[in-house]
Amino acid sequence: MTTLTVSTAATGAQPADCVVIGVSASPVGPVVAPGAEAVDEAFDAGLAATLGTLGFTGAEGQTLKLAAPAGLQAEVVLAVGLGKTAEGGVATDDALRRAAGVAARALAGTGRAVLALPANTAEAAEAVAMGALLGAYTFTAYRDPGEGQGPVGELVIQADEATQDEVTAGVRRGSVIGEEMNRARDLINMPANHLTPEAFAATGRDVGAAYGLDVEVLDEEALAKESFGGILGVGQGSVRPPRLVRVAHTHPAADKTLAFVGKGITYDSGGISLKPVGSNEIMKRDMSGAAAVLTAVVAAARLRLRVNVTGWLAIAENMPSGSATKPGDVLRMYNGRTVEVLNTDAEGRLVLADALVRAGEEAPDALVDVATLTAAMRMALGDRLFGVMSPDAGFRAHVVDAAERAGEEAWPMPLPNQLRESLDSPVADIANTGVRMGGGLVAGLFLQEFVPDGVPWAHLDIAGPAFHEGEPYGHTPRGGTGCAVRTLVRLAQDAALERSGADR
Ligand code: BES
Ligand code: MN
Ligand code: ZN
Repeated sequence: MTTLTVSTAATGAQPADCVVIGVSASPVGPVVAPGAEAVDEAFDAGLAATLGTLGFTGAEGQTLKLAAPAGLQAEVVLAVGLGKTAEGGVATDDALRRAAGVAARALAGTGRAVLALPANTAEAAEAVAMGALLGAYTFTAYRDPGEGQGPVGELVIQADEATQDEVTAGVRRGSVIGEEMNRARDLINMPANHLTPEAFAATGRDVGAAYGLDVEVLDEEALAKESFGGILGVGQGSVRPPRLVRVAHTHPAADKTLAFVGKGITYDSGGISLKPVGSNEIMKRDMSGAAAVLTAVVAAARLRLRVNVTGWLAIAENMPSGSATKPGDVLRMYNGRTVEVLNTDAEGRLVLADALVRAGEEAPDALVDVATLTAAMRMALGDRLFGVMSPDAGFRAHVVDAAERAGEEAWPMPLPNQLRESLDSPVADIANTGVRMGGGLVAGLFLQEFVPDGVPWAHLDIAGPAFHEGEPYGHTPRGGTGCAVRTLVRLAQDAALERSGADR
């Protein structure tokens, strides 16, 4: 585990294995970013020229290690590219967050490093702290990272006396969100034989208890008693029974309540409509929505946001067996409506439908679900953007905007009414699949049927960005990414601030 502290000691006087500096790319060559003045002095103000000579441009993602000159207590200087900056040369918070992530990853195996990056406002410090914790993340529960390969031990963020309080507050916010995203990543990366529905629910209970949330876990008996036909129908093919978990952060002065619903399929084999080889290897990722919901509610509690936030984790393992739901079976859902299951691989919408109805019973001021729901959304938007659907264009815009302000990439997607009739069933109220073209939107239209009237609702399909299969970049590692956590926290922050009349 990487620790993160704030220090006002002079950069040159800090004993460290490494000092990290930011460098932005300008048309006339690399420019050393503010925060690194002492390091530049130790290079006799020739740092930019030296970097230029070595071919370092300051492009985003670039790193270069230099032996530290006399005058610094550190051994090594690590330059990290901030990319092109706007006129005036100030890096955006997004660029800082990504660069801090790149730096933290490059520091693997290092003991103590000083981040002499431009982090003198609360927002910049939040970005640097968050990016650093995210970049330092590794998933080593089942393997040894190897000698000298573990995450950086200690990161120190530099602050001036004048801005220390602001910086400390920003670092605290960034740390909480970074840690909760890393918790989501751990849950996503955990293989499905270890993170069973029962184990996931137990984690929800333990983490919730640790941070003062109200937690309720419905096991298979309770689910049956209350007729959660969607969740039970998906879970009945597995020897590991399903769960519905409710976690709630409440604030005594809150006057708004948000409800978040997460798809928590701990493994998606497709069920009887079995997925082929090539499509089932990393379906442990299919609980990424529930992981985001759990950790966002925990973050809201840790940040003491003045808003109530309730999270619903709809957890099941989708497996084929003699007891599994079959194509053609009809399920009676929690609200009494019937669903013809044409394809058992369209299971996410079934567990979500029950959870949406249950969440709606508490009449929240807004309802947002998060799910690795369709391959179609991945085809449409690729692996870095998630789709946002809502019948309420204003609310959809608000969610997309919250994502952007939180540094996540989201795109508004429609819910075209003409696709709805493809979900008509001759035997039940609705079928669980419709036309294939626009499949991500059809899934959204299915969910819409289970949203209570009058509650602003948005559906986030994170099938692409929830899990990263390529080389790490920015603060994104291989594996679970923690997608949607920041957006959900931002929505909670917005709701908390709306109440107090603040303007951001
Ligand atoms: N969990 C999958 C969607 C998915 C695919 C997530 C790839 C991440 C990566 C979901 O349960 C699913 O199987 N959806 C089907 C729906 C279809 C049968 C209507 C799909 O998208 O193919
Ligand atoms: Mn599926
Ligand atoms: Zn699925």
